[in-house]
Amino acid sequence: MDSTRFGRRVSKFSLLLRQGLRRLSNGKKLGLVLMFVILTVLGFLVPFLALQSHIKKTETPKTKETEEPDDNLPEFQEPEIFRLNSTNATDEPPEQNQGRDIAVVVLAARRPEVHQVVNQLLAQKPASGFRLLMSLDGTEKQTTAVLQQIKSNEVKLLRLADDKSRNFTASSDSYVKIARHYLRVLDYLILKLNFSYVILMEDDMLIAPDFYQYFRSLRRALDSDESIFCVSAWNDNGQIGLVTEDPQLLHRTDFFPGLGWMINRRHWLQIREFWPKTQYDDFLRHYMMNNSLVCVRPELSRTFNIGRNGGRSSEPGKSYAYGDIFYHNYLSRMALNTFNVTLTKSAIDKVIGRSADHDLDKFARSLPAMNVSQLLSMPVQELPPAVRLRYATVNDFIELALSIGAIPEVWFGAPRASILSISMVSVRGSRVFIVPDKRLPVQKKIYIPRMKPKPKPKPESNPAPSRRFWFF
Ligand SMILES: *[C@@H]1O[C@H](CO)[C@@H](O)[C@H](O)[C@H]1NC(C)=O
Ligand SMILES: *[C@@H]1O[C@H](CO)[C@@H](O)[C@H](O)[C@H]1NC(C)=O
Ligand SMILES: *[C@@H]1O[C@H](CO)[C@@H](O)[C@H](O)[C@H]1NC(C)=O
Ligand SMILES: *[C@@H]1O[C@H](CO)[C@@H](O)[C@H](O)[C@H]1NC(C)=O
Ligand SMILES: *[C@@H]1O[C@H](CO)[C@@H](O)[C@H](O)[C@H]1NC(C)=O
Ligand SMILES: *[C@@H]1O[C@H](CO)[C@@H](O)[C@H](O)[C@H]1NC(C)=O
Ligand SMILES: *[C@@H]1O[C@H](CO)[C@@H](O)[C@H](O)[C@H]1NC(C)=O
Repeated sequence: MDSTRFGRRVSKFSLLLRQGLRRLSNGKKLGLVLMFVILTVLGFLVPFLALQSHIKKTETPKTKETEEPDDNLPEFQEPEIFRLNSTNATDEPPEQNQGRDIAVVVLAARRPEVHQVVNQLLAQKPASGFRLLMSLDGTEKQTTAVLQQIKSNEVKLLRLADDKSRNFTASSDSYVKIARHYLRVLDYLILKLNFSYVILMEDDMLIAPDFYQYFRSLRRALDSDESIFCVSAWNDNGQIGLVTEDPQLLHRTDFFPGLGWMINRRHWLQIREFWPKTQYDDFLRHYMMNNSLVCVRPELSRTFNIGRNGGRSSEPGKSYAYGDIFYHNYLSRMALNTFNVTLTKSAIDKVIGRSADHDLDKFARSLPAMNVSQLLSMPVQELPPAVRLRYATVNDFIELALSIGAIPEVWFGAPRASILSISMVSVRGSRVFIVPDKRLPVQKKIYIPRMKPKPKPKPESNPAPSRRFWFF
């Protein structure tokens, strides 16, 4: 299968990363330089390899999905179900010290490739401070079998039932199922098992070598600043070519990033009453904007998405899906951090406190303004280290984003990865702040490029987003 092949390629890639790191720790300078070169080349290749397989996929006529049998899978067994009778933390005494550990939970449903992230999490798990869990929703056979095959005392498989008092009726809508799954898992871990911190992982991810350390260090930010709703491992505009290679660099964003994120008990208790029936991520984006909350995000992502359906699902009758284009233009080009770093105190302090947002706003507005054609044509050595691109409307922002390769989306008044409607990326060695004349209002509308049904993409041409999108 296409996606599996892509997954394997990515695991090879991550294997190389790990070998590189081992050399790094041996202090072999030459090895470090070599690895750096190899990784850079590979990093540039990944999107094109992904594009190749995407092209093959679009070329093959759509047939009914058949599941490829895998001889290595063990026999299917109904897993044990831990029934969640109520969400009362006093029901069952939690294990000692559990309140101080961070629960890392992988939410699985219908993707057998979930074993990749679980195995990576197992391989890198520190001896203390973290509990690893997998939560399986539904009974999809391959996924169930793959999870049952993971034999380790370090990871526990959960099958949680819905809280009966919620009166849920069965739904076949996957967005509804996902929203319920998150509710069940967070209630179980925080209310029943008394965890104070939960990291939520999706089933189609890979992790950076400092994944655990990243979250461990940033627990302090979550604790000491009530405006911080979550810590995320993901930078939506973290594509190769748009980021500075600084693993210590952190930002605040009021656009919920998801894709590997940590929440604490306090925020969960506040939000669980309002938890939505469907599309929890849209809900969280709106909720954060309404309540002036932010998430901490890295400059260099600590997770990598190997899924193909990260964006909106395909629209019937259209020749290709936005999700596919989104994946190939943005998700597959994500620069995954390759350094095993410990965040410094000062790096963390910079994202604590609301004043950081106002300081950033002031700084961004003080920068020399430039238009995008100047930015893209001026000789690199003449570019200032930091510049401002102005925009007035959502459409202006989308035009700008398309011309520099950032994600051209605005949700509830926030561009992806932005803070106070300000986006930050690196272009041609300069830090570029995309600054609104006036902050965009919080509103219900989501501006996402719609796909043109025609013309079909030419397989040999490079993806050129500006020719493929139109806006409403
Ligand atoms: C839930 O309730 C059933 C019977 O009412 C009981 O057998 C089961 O042990 C309970 N589960 C938990 C986790 O308390
Ligand atoms: C949990 O149980 C205690 C004591 O039985 C009760 O006072 C409390 O209201 C319950 N909490 C919830 C959320 O049901
Ligand atoms: C839950 O964890 C907190 C620490 O986060 C601890 O103070 C509390 O006593 C724990 N509750 C139970 C019932 O163990
Ligand atoms: C669930 O149904 C019961 C009985 O019909 C009702 O008392 C309760 O309020 C309902 N709960 C919710 C959350 O709707
Ligand atoms: C990263 O470094 C820490 C110590 O600083 C070490 O415990 C951990 O195993 C390292 N992780 C990897 C993936 O090498
Ligand atoms: C945000 O606020 C708007 C306007 O008050 C409201 O309609 C919407 O339901 C809120 N959304 C969330 C997720 O809090
Ligand atoms: C960009 O700015 C330069 C210099 O101010 C100007 O000559 C040029 O016309 C501008 N381009 C656009 C597209 O506005």
